[in-house]
Amino acid sequence: MNELYEKYRLKLQRVTDIGSAQALMNWDQEIYMPPGGAAFRAQQLSTLAGIAHEMSIDKELGVLISQLLNDSSLGEVEKKNIKQSKIDFDKRTKLPTEFVEEMSRAISEAFQAWQEAKKKDDFSIYAPKLEKIVELKLREAEFLGYEEHPYDALIDLYEPGMTASMVTKVFEDVMPGLKSLLEEIKNQPQLSDELMYQEYDKDKQWDFSLFLLEQMGYDFNRGRQDISSHPFTIHFNSDDVRVTTRVNENDLAEILWSTIHEGGHALYEQGIPSDQYGLPAGEYISLGVHESQSRLWENNVGRSLEYWQKNFPLLQRSFPEQLGSYSVGEFYKAMNKVQPSLIRTSADELTYHFHIYIRFVIEKELLEKKLKVSELPARWNSLYKEYLGEDVPSDAKGVLQDIHWSHGSFGYFPTYSLGSFYAAQFFNRAEETIDDLRGKISRGELKELLSWLRANIHRFGKQFTAVELCEKVTGKKLDSEYFLEYARKKFRALYNIS
Ligand code: CO
Repeated sequence: MNELYEKYRLKLQRVTDIGSAQALMNWDQEIYMPPGGAAFRAQQLSTLAGIAHEMSIDKELGVLISQLLNDSSLGEVEKKNIKQSKIDFDKRTKLPTEFVEEMSRAISEAFQAWQEAKKKDDFSIYAPKLEKIVELKLREAEFLGYEEHPYDALIDLYEPGMTASMVTKVFEDVMPGLKSLLEEIKNQPQLSDELMYQEYDKDKQWDFSLFLLEQMGYDFNRGRQDISSHPFTIHFNSDDVRVTTRVNENDLAEILWSTIHEGGHALYEQGIPSDQYGLPAGEYISLGVHESQSRLWENNVGRSLEYWQKNFPLLQRSFPEQLGSYSVGEFYKAMNKVQPSLIRTSADELTYHFHIYIRFVIEKELLEKKLKVSELPARWNSLYKEYLGEDVPSDAKGVLQDIHWSHGSFGYFPTYSLGSFYAAQFFNRAEETIDDLRGKISRGELKELLSWLRANIHRFGKQFTAVELCEKVTGKKLDSEYFLEYARKKFRALYNIS
């Protein structure tokens, strides 16, 4: 046993222990905490965040990492851990403490202003705070360093190795095709999703969602599902990965695809090796790869006809009155209705990417100072008209809808689309590798797909960048053409486009 490596491992595990305590407090806050507990909970979380940050920039840890970098006796995975820890450590120590504190104050002010502005539908309340955030994000990019574009430094925080020009290329490859596909769809008779909006007993919905998780291979001995208003997945370690879902008596779609989506995130976390706890090889790669796992299950599997060939008759058995007279084909059409809309979080699988692209364009323009914050609502509205054909009736339903910028999250939005694009490319590869995958899905046999994801993606943790992983799994760099092909095939069939 290498004593230095052991020291390093223990130090990182202790940081993760604190992080797990924070995560548990966050989970409790969403699920059980009475409203009166909010103020002290915020203080407790901030104390833990401070302790974890101090431990993670500890000089002794930095020295250990430097010493181990030159240790040739380490194994392959250990070397990768050290290399990644060096990158993480340098990144964390680049931001001066005063700057981190200034940013944290600006964020809490911007968040409050955003909430008020959204409620009152008044962008001017938020504008000066957002201006401050943009200014600080530009300074942050300078501290972190970048080669081409300040955006590169910021997206790297969520999607290491990805740059503004790479994201631009991915979108430029896919957007014209998606735009013309949307035009084709608009010219066809529209699909009906009315069957989703009947009255569905909440307990029966809940039971069915547990069945879906079980069928996917989610391990309830190392996880549980609860209810929250915004569904999420949270992990304390690979052996305790929890999901939440939401249930709406008058909209069956909410619970089904929330559960499958979060289930996909959770399968990833449960598949990361627990013996690498606290170390890079015990972490997820990036937000884009995380989202690829949730979307692969939600869309490529969970919105396919095959998946419901097995599951629709079971769902009918739970809801004979509501669904007994419908066919699986009608159910499949209802879940895949395409409808341009104003709100990103309720967008369909296709138009979702227009919402993301618009945000990406705006973020870049703000950071390039081509767009002033004061001009933001007008720019937003004109992009929604151009890409989705929608008139934005108010800022509350427009530029004020998302929390992200008030949290200082710039470069975060693209990871959602990257998730879908990775998912399409991964699923394509899975279909090439697994014999009769679609047949298996239609019989509810999902184990082989999960094993494939485990073997090719989950088990590596963060031993690779997303860019490297994609090449390793599919033999190619990320190529949004896979998503475009998938979308064309699926939606042209659904809308009878020849
Ligand atoms: Co997600």
